[in-house]
Parts: sequence; C-alpha cells; structure tokens
Amino acid sequence: MKKNIVLIGFMGSGKSTLGRRLAKRLGYKFIDTDSAIEQVTGKTVEQIFRKDGEIRFRSEEKLLARKLSDRSGLVIATGGGLVLNPENVELLKQNGALICLRADPKIILQRVRSKKRRPLLSKGNLLENIIRLSKERESAYAIAELTVDTGKHNYEEVLNQIKRFLEQKGYI
Ligand code: S3P
Repeated sequence: MKKNIVLIGFMGSGKSTLGRRLAKRLGYKFIDTDSAIEQVTGKTVEQIFRKDGEIRFRSEEKLLARKLSDRSGLVIATGGGLVLNPENVELLKQNGALICLRADPKIILQRVRSKKRRPLLSKGNLLENIIRLSKERESAYAIAELTVDTGKHNYEEVLNQIKRFLEQKGYI
C-alpha cells in the first residue's frame, strides 16, 4: 500500500503549493485539508472560525484526519494547526510519512499577507503573532521525519529533496 505523504508546518510554509506539485510529480491525488473542510461544511475557514468557533473547526479536522487515515496514495497538505492534536498525528502516521515545511517568520509574513484563511493571525501585530505561534508549535512540528526550509531553497529544490528522501526510505 502506498503511504500518504503528509505535509505539516506553519501557515505560509508552502504546504498547499508544494503539495499540489508533489502530487502531480508522483501521480498521487492531492488533498488540502482546509479546502476539504470548506467543501464538507459549505463554509469558508474564516466563516467557521467566526460563526462556529475554533473548537468546531478542530473537530472537523479530526473527522477528516480519521477519514484520510484509511486512504493511501495521497499527498495531504494539512492546516497548520491539525497536528497540534496528538490523535490526528497518530491517525495520519498509521499510513503516512510526515514531512514538515518551515520558513523564517519574515518570509512567512510576506506569504500570509492575505489572511482570509488565517483568522488566528488576524488580530494584533502580524509578525509578532507569527513569531509567538511558531515558537509555541515547535515541538508539535518536530514529529516530522524530515523538515525542509522553503525560505532557503526554491520549490524545485524542495521537491527534489522530498522526493529523494521518500525514495531512500522506500516510501515511493
Ligand atoms: C491554521 C492554519 C490554516 C487554517 C486555519 C488554522 C492554524 O491553514 O487551517 O486558519 O492553526 O495554523 P494553513 O496552514 O494552510 O494556512
């Protein structure tokens, strides 16, 4: 059974953009958890946070993690907070290789100027929020088998790095 490739990491680290390209290259199906939740609920991430609250969004993420853990041959770009729940990590690890994407806060800042899907960053100073939250989440993202910096290498290099790792491990 083909392992899922699960991209984790902070908002703006490049999970969706790279995930889509990686899926294409591997011939895998691509799933973006934020988009999947928007489809299932018929609401945008921003609407869910505003109208139903973060707890509701996190329970949608949990349901989705459970569903995806039964599937194989997927590249999954996770929302930045999905792996904060250890249950989700366990589920996704059952049949998945977890790869973390990261970038320095100033680079993240340039990428997340559009905050539509990022209500957690929308109040107060954007750069300060990025620095604080990414510190808080360091240990959660450290569970990845591989971490790649998308601020220091271009997307093509990152893709090659991930692909080499997956080949070495015998995952693809
Ligand atoms: C979140 C990240 C977002 C989205 C939601 C919460 C987070 O996804 O799921 O705004 O807690 O880090 P991206 O990482 O795709 O921006």
